Amino acid sequence: MDFNRRAFRDKGRQLKKINGFFSPQSHAFWDLLLRWQKDHMAPGHLVEIGVWKGKSSSVLASLKRDEEQLHMIDPGLKEERFREPS
Ligand SMILES: C[S@@+](CC[C@H](N)C(=O)[O-])C[C@H]1O[C@@H](n2cnc3c(N)ncnc32)[C@H](O)[C@@H]1O
Repeated sequence: MDFNRRAFRDKGRQLKKINGFFSPQSHAFWDLLLRWQKDHMAPGHLVEIGVWKGKSSSVLASLKRDEEQLHMIDPGLKEERFREPS
């Protein structure tokens, strides 16, 4: 399994700009797990429940395969959050 140190560090820098609750340790664990799954297992769609502002979801998006879908769910968010500012 390839570990791209530069890509991981760049993603870590991007994550710092997104508000949320996803620690660098969680990022490292998810990165390892998702890259292992990408290399060794059959593809499958991804679902995250409790997306908040998308910090952890952005890691899922960066590691999903082209043929996989990512569904992001957060029943706690109000509809206004998804509208363009007027
Ligand atoms: C700690 S935040 C998620 C952090 C996010 N994953 C990140 O990377 O920053 C928890 C989120 O879960 C949502 N939530 C709370 N209770 C939930 C429930 N019962 N089912 C699904 N989502 C829930 C909240 O609306 C909130 O946005």
